[in-house]
Amino acid sequence: MVVLLDQRLLPEEVAEVRCESAAEVAGAIRTMVVRGAPAIGVAAAYGLALAALRGEDLAEAERALADSRPTAVNLPWALAAMREDPTPARARALHEGEVERCRLMAAHAAELFAPGTRALTHCNAGGLATAGYGSAVGALRAAWERGLLERVLVDETRPLLQGARLTAWELEQLGVPQAVIADSAAASLMARGEIDLVVTGADRIAANGDTANKIGTYSLAVLAAHHGIALYVVAPSSTVDLATADGSAIPIEERDPAEVTGRFPARNPAFDVTPAGLIAAIVTERGVHRPPYAESLR
Ligand code: MRU
Repeated sequence: MVVLLDQRLLPEEVAEVRCESAAEVAGAIRTMVVRGAPAIGVAAAYGLALAALRGEDLAEAERALADSRPTAVNLPWALAAMREDPTPARARALHEGEVERCRLMAAHAAELFAPGTRALTHCNAGGLATAGYGSAVGALRAAWERGLLERVLVDETRPLLQGARLTAWELEQLGVPQAVIADSAAASLMARGEIDLVVTGADRIAANGDTANKIGTYSLAVLAAHHGIALYVVAPSSTVDLATADGSAIPIEERDPAEVTGRFPARNPAFDVTPAGLIAAIVTERGVHRPPYAESLR
């Protein structure tokens, strides 16, 4: 059985979802019981191990898991890493590797923070999204522990409120001073000089550095560039997709319009692509990568 924390109910309720088959794990990923690029990769790895233990058709299990969400490359990356040895031990090793990569990249990213930094983050790139520790929130956490962080503004992140529900909950537990803001408040707070840097995670980073992340990241990047503020992307190498040349080839998930409104017709692209030129640095467990990313990410 694969047991997942139900992220849909947080922070009001801490509840588990128990999956008895790979199809149930795929369903949990699709419905966002578990979400966040590295976390869905780890969940898929456990799902494939479960399928092997139960004697399921592994090709079919892999297909169901791979199809559950399209944008984060961590999902196919984890499934490929499981193919030779689809065991719980392999899934556990992959899980532990992701958490270790988060710790390493957070330490690198903390070097980008000056004393008294007032940061803004988007969506949730914390322990929940990464199966432990966090990427962008890991960076905030490391900066806080080093005494470099004054406070965090947290975009609420419409329509599913990963910021207002999940990031705020995690920062509260870490004791980091924070304020949740409406996504549309970022521009005026930047103009008022209240934001020193923006830090986000990523779902897929193309070979040229174009980066897919939660819808709204691109808007933030444009705003940050206008105000002369650095935007940093923090993500493990499992999110870097050197086989995808640039952002135009990244599949963008369109989710149920009812997540936006049930009353009127709606569009609900769940991710956008931030062009590499708007990203000051990409931080992985290997260090701080600067432009040109086609060279520094290799
Ligand atoms: O739709 P979600 O909640 O899975 O989207 C998650 C994000 O966009 C995160 O910012 C991204 O996965 C980075 S998490 C380490």
